[in-house]
Amino acid sequence: MSQIIDGKLIAQNLRNDLKTEIAALKQKFNKAPGLAVVQVGNVAASSVYVKAKTKSATEVGIEVFDHHLDNEITEDELMLLIKKLNQQENVNGILVQLPLPKHINEQKVLDSIHPDKDADGFHPLNVGKLSISSSNDENLLIPCTPYGCLLMLKGLKTDLKGKHAVVIGRSNIVGKPMAQLLLKESCTVTIAHSKTIDLDKLCSRADILVAAIGKPEFVKGDWIKDNAIVIDVGINRIEIKTDGEVKNKLVGDVDFLEAKSKTTAITPVPGGVGPMTIACLLRNTTISFKNKLSQ
Ligand code: GUN
Repeated sequence: MSQIIDGKLIAQNLRNDLKTEIAALKQKFNKAPGLAVVQVGNVAASSVYVKAKTKSATEVGIEVFDHHLDNEITEDELMLLIKKLNQQENVNGILVQLPLPKHINEQKVLDSIHPDKDADGFHPLNVGKLSISSSNDENLLIPCTPYGCLLMLKGLKTDLKGKHAVVIGRSNIVGKPMAQLLLKESCTVTIAHSKTIDLDKLCSRADILVAAIGKPEFVKGDWIKDNAIVIDVGINRIEIKTDGEVKNKLVGDVDFLEAKSKTTAITPVPGGVGPMTIACLLRNTTISFKNKLSQ
């Protein structure tokens, strides 16, 4: 029987711990963490994520500064806002929701966020720190989705050391930092991507499979090793027809029903990685706040 990893519950526990910690800090220092949430334009998925992030942050006691900007804003105007937020005393974390419109250089914007306020852990300095640090440094700002995946893996109480982990996807947001985190857990890590030859065969040698490809139900049951652990990062909206009616459905990058029969543990979509990403954003904001208090 495969364990269905309950990301909702693990995220709820993490949020509860953060709420308690933030209340205690507020009592002691008479200050709360502040998170600036910057959205440019109206990409539907971004609006959903930003709303969810804002709601969760507020619930744990983080003050949210919402900056919803017009799609036509120039790169210079956006950079000016970041500059102000970098200087704003009560802002501890800055989140710029991606993707940005094509006319804005995403990396340039991410690079301009002060590394101490980098709620997403995307700044090159934090990326470098993650790559260099060998131990579990509690103060590191780590990209939220892969860190959420790691917490779920650690919660399984399975020894990760020496396990062959295959990460499908090489993005800066998920694939690359995921590989770094698994490496730190002493996994043997392979990063696969869209050009990987014989991807199915490679996956079938994975003790731990992390799928972050962005293709609905791409990973099939017969790609999966018996007793593997599968973490599905994909959130894909597909249309299904039932009784002549077209309905939207969220599915992951893994064919869940096929994979479930092979695995010892698997994350569902929705209710797996998604809630963890948001909880880890709140964690990063709290870390930035505590780092500032101790400066
Ligand atoms: N877009 C998709 N995932 C993310 C994320 O983790 N952070 C930000 N800022 N944008 C995203």
